[in-house]
Amino acid sequence: MVAATNSSNSAITAIVTGAGRGIGKETALLLAARGVNVAVCSRTQGEIDRVAGQISRLYSRRVLGMKCDVGDAGQVMAFVAATVERFGPYIDILVNNAGVAVLKRLEDTTEKEWDETINSNLKSAFLCCKAVLPCMKSSSNNSGGRGGGGTIINVSSVAGTAGFQNLSAYCASKFGMMGLTASLAWEVPAGVRVMAMCPGDVDTDMQDVDPQYRRANRHRMLTARQVAEKIVEMIFDKSRYRNGQSVVME
Ligand SMILES: NC(=O)c1ccc[n+]([C@@H]2O[C@H](COP(=O)([O-])OP(=O)(O)OC[C@H]3O[C@@H](n4cnc5c(N)ncnc54)[C@H](OP(=O)(O)O)[C@@H]3O)[C@@H](O)[C@H]2O)c1
Repeated sequence: MVAATNSSNSAITAIVTGAGRGIGKETALLLAARGVNVAVCSRTQGEIDRVAGQISRLYSRRVLGMKCDVGDAGQVMAFVAATVERFGPYIDILVNNAGVAVLKRLEDTTEKEWDETINSNLKSAFLCCKAVLPCMKSSSNNSGGRGGGGTIINVSSVAGTAGFQNLSAYCASKFGMMGLTASLAWEVPAGVRVMAMCPGDVDTDMQDVDPQYRRANRHRMLTARQVAEKIVEMIFDKSRYRNGQSVVME
């Protein structure tokens, strides 16, 4: 676990899952640059320590970096508890970004690969929303002048809107993410928004499921920074991005 303390207590707090690299890392960096306290996690200790260290050095903001498999209920509870202990009881922003991809025909996909995909990409969002929403509810009800409410961004994909060959486990998880977003949007209290971000191809390590495809197509792919910028826009532009909305970016 890496922590640095330097910012004021009035800063808002964000959790970004899967922030060891790629879109999650860029999103955490952009939020920190805006003065947000950020709690970041992934399963690889070295990567998450590096990201937390980078945020701390660049922005002198409060940051918590923690190893956490967000497909595991106990680890999610511990991560959220550590976030609250570090930054206080209110969590304003949750970016459910963690994800893995498996590029295989359904018949060749193992049960282990299916479970890892669904757990990392979809169950993770269920667990994180369940753990974080009470902190957002308190936020919207509090009389402490923080403004209340909260924002949840579920990082889905264009693969959550259409089927793709050899991606049935991945597409199932991302379609699930769209259903979770659309349903949860009906349940959240006033002031809380739940939205989905659906990027097309992004030039990150996830594309290494097919290195040849990545090499041949990276010139037309989005960058992780571009997607992170849109996520941050969705978080802060409350009049333009409304509860239940999904944004496709290609
Ligand atoms: N790249 C694309 O073309 C693309 C397109 C559309 C949507 N997306 C989505 O964007 C999100 C970010 O992907 P990316 O492209 O930035 O990929 P990436 O560079 O591979 O980063 C994925 C991050 O998620 C973490 N992660 C995976 N499973 C996790 C788990 N169970 N618990 C905690 N952390 C976990 C990874 O770290 P560890 O493995 O160390 O845990 C890593 O830090 C994913 O949800 C992905 O499906 C990507």
